[in-house]
Amino acid sequence: MKLSVIGTGYVGLVTGTCFADMGNDVWCIDIDETKIENLKKGILPIYEPGLEELVKRNHAEGRLRFTTNLNEGIDESEYAFIAVGTPSDEDGSADLQHVIEVARQIGRCMDNYLIIIDKSTVPVGTAEKVRQAVREELDKRGKGDVSFDVVSNPEFLKEGSAVEDFIRPDRVIIGTDNESAAERMRDLYSTFVRKGDRVMLMDIPSAELTKYAANAMLATRISFMNELAHLCEVTGADIESVRRGIGSDSRIGNAFLYGGIGYGGSCFPKDVKALIYTLRDYGFDAKILTAVEEVNRNQRTYFIDRVVRHVGENLTGKIFAVWGLAFKPQTDDMREAPSIDIINGLRDRGASFRAYDPIAIENARLIIGDRNIEYVTNNYDALEGVDALLLLTEWHHFRKPDFEKMKDLMNEPVIFDGRNQYEPAKMKEMGFAYYSIGRS
Ligand SMILES: NC(=O)c1ccc[n+]([C@@H]2O[C@H](COP(=O)([O-])OP(=O)(O)OC[C@H]3O[C@@H](n4cnc5c(N)ncnc54)[C@H](O)[C@@H]3O)[C@@H](O)[C@H]2O)c1
Repeated sequence: MKLSVIGTGYVGLVTGTCFADMGNDVWCIDIDETKIENLKKGILPIYEPGLEELVKRNHAEGRLRFTTNLNEGIDESEYAFIAVGTPSDEDGSADLQHVIEVARQIGRCMDNYLIIIDKSTVPVGTAEKVRQAVREELDKRGKGDVSFDVVSNPEFLKEGSAVEDFIRPDRVIIGTDNESAAERMRDLYSTFVRKGDRVMLMDIPSAELTKYAANAMLATRISFMNELAHLCEVTGADIESVRRGIGSDSRIGNAFLYGGIGYGGSCFPKDVKALIYTLRDYGFDAKILTAVEEVNRNQRTYFIDRVVRHVGENLTGKIFAVWGLAFKPQTDDMREAPSIDIINGLRDRGASFRAYDPIAIENARLIIGDRNIEYVTNNYDALEGVDALLLLTEWHHFRKPDFEKMKDLMNEPVIFDGRNQYEPAKMKEMGFAYYSIGRS
């Protein structure tokens, strides 16, 4: 099949590449010329396990092509995925300008029937706006007789395992009001969902809302556990035991129940905000999600306060090692990473840092800058002469470090663990002052 994916970011590049890998002819389109030129040379704009090899192979074999020229792709396509960003606007709503702009561009160049697919995360009602924008542009060109369908097909991949998630999805949501478009979508996805029951057909508003509901539910679980973590600390309970205790309940399950420094990334924060906005827009209070957001924000402040309580208000002359900058492991994505607020909060009090992350340093430097921070390429190098270690992302190789070596390198054996990676009792036994989240 022939398809275009417009927006070649985390979602668009993975979507296009995975479809190409199944034998489809795919155009990946983006307005960022550097990104497209680099992709043609096999240089990827993001880190995602397994993606580079797939991009290079499918590009070399001619199934995956890159362009900044939307006409070129649309001209040949039966399907057009819109996978551009939908960042938060100032009021918290999803900014749809890129989505609508792409819809207009499609309307300005399509000449034949096309299925236009909203892959971006968009609020209820967006498919209708996309439909209107395309229709207006077709009408302007006197092409009102060209037909098309708009389908909502939100994406659920996770950064860090995006390729795997796309190839083996838990479900494929297809929101449509047209049976033949539904069949064509089912056909397109059939290679990924050999078990057909993973495809869920529904009306468009339900599909649009499902994506927000999923992210908001996961964010809620995180904030719920973080709220309980505070209670654990003052009562002598252990959030890890509570997690295991409730996670074993099949009605609850284990995922997203970890105490920590809260959620970040390009999706949860903006999607929770956007759903709050939509609820309010329809006259509802959004009580739960407002609290979810507040608990999440406070978690970062709480971590900073804990460091200050141990080290003192004035951090001038103090130096901290940072292990992990990305918002989560297996990605170089720094969008809304807790590390940003934590480093800035401590830096405002005079602290300096030696920071390590296996892949996010380049992106981190763009956001956090170089003031009072030295970036290092080995986690042990970060520890030399520091007053404490801040563990902010749970990269696998932080799990079993050489603690004796750490103690030798550090000025003070103090660890603030934002991701509960170690056993408090063992850390104490080894002579560390160890602070974790929700563990007495
Ligand atoms: N990143 C994730 O893990 C994830 C997961 C599921 C859903 N989503 C959703 O998918 C959408 C895309 O997210 P992302 O993380 O891939 O974004 P991204 O910022 O990584 O990529 C967006 C791309 O769109 C391009 N773009 C913007 N306007 C364009 C235009 N007019 N024409 C062509 N290209 C244009 C940008 O240059 C950029 O390369 C968002 O709505 C997001 O919420 C993201």
